[in-house]
Amino acid sequence: MKILGLVGSVRQLGNSEILTKEALMGAEEEGAQVEILRLTDYNVGPCRGCAACLLQERDCVIKDDANFIFGKMAESDGIIVGVPCYILEATAIVKQLIDRGFAPMQQNTVRGKVGGVIVPYATRGWTQNVFQQTNTWLLALGVDVVNQLLIHVQGLSEAPLIQDALEKCRNLGKQVVRAISTGDHSFQGEEGICPICHDRNIRILKDMESVECPVCAVRGSLKIEEGKIKVVFSQEAIARHRWSVENLQRHFTYHLKPSKEFFMKTKDQRKESMQKYRDYLKKS
Ligand SMILES: Cc1cc2nc3c(=O)[nH]c(=O)nc-3n(C[C@H](O)[C@H](O)[C@H](O)COP(=O)(O)O)c2cc1C
Repeated sequence: MKILGLVGSVRQLGNSEILTKEALMGAEEEGAQVEILRLTDYNVGPCRGCAACLLQERDCVIKDDANFIFGKMAESDGIIVGVPCYILEATAIVKQLIDRGFAPMQQNTVRGKVGGVIVPYATRGWTQNVFQQTNTWLLALGVDVVNQLLIHVQGLSEAPLIQDALEKCRNLGKQVVRAISTGDHSFQGEEGICPICHDRNIRILKDMESVECPVCAVRGSLKIEEGKIKVVFSQEAIARHRWSVENLQRHFTYHLKPSKEFFMKTKDQRKESMQKYRDYLKKS
């Protein structure tokens, strides 16, 4: 069994690397083979929006390291992502890989793997969106995340001094291995609000009656029970979440792929109407 650690911090032997390594040590204790990559050591450029992966159903055409990283993920049974919180969110490399994940998302090469996420952060109250990117990335690829940890570490590379944090990460590594061995991929972390990503962020929709997880698009409603807010999701709404195989297939088949036909049909018309923008602010 192979477990891949992916570090989303440039900082060598920083908190993300240390905590990810601790999780990998836990995975090794359970008998797994482990490997670690620092994502920022690789050349991952922005998605060019060429739609080749979508319309020609092929791998990404960009010749950089993104396909290598997705290949490594596809070869692994489990994936542990350690990424620091930067300005409320995950670091930019995660967003870059979300966009570049369009091909593996359609090919389902990473689907069904087991995942774990570790986020070190420094300032309480400054982490609200941090799991949004890791969940978007991993759930879009079909990874079953069994735990996500938010670890408070005040100083640079201070993680080795925080025994409780090390134990939690080591345990996450073991949880990933056990989930793979038993086939039970259920979430074992702290329960949040969303039944899919387990985060606590919720949007209030314009009807002022419904709420929605912004990542998973599961819709529910609010109730007050004994003075406490309760968010209620129907089983039907849960089953229709954004990242389900059926929903993704519908999204690609009916929302995205038909744009090819429109694109071909309007070729001449677009060429003509674009001329004014081509000429506007043209450098002489
Ligand atoms: C540019 C930058 C932005 C940061 N933004 C936040 C933040 O919004 N919230 C927070 O809690 N910590 C923030 N931090 C602190 C890091 O999350 C923290 O130091 C973390 O342990 C770094 O992990 P690393 O050593 O793996 O890079 C920020 C750090 C940097 C360098």
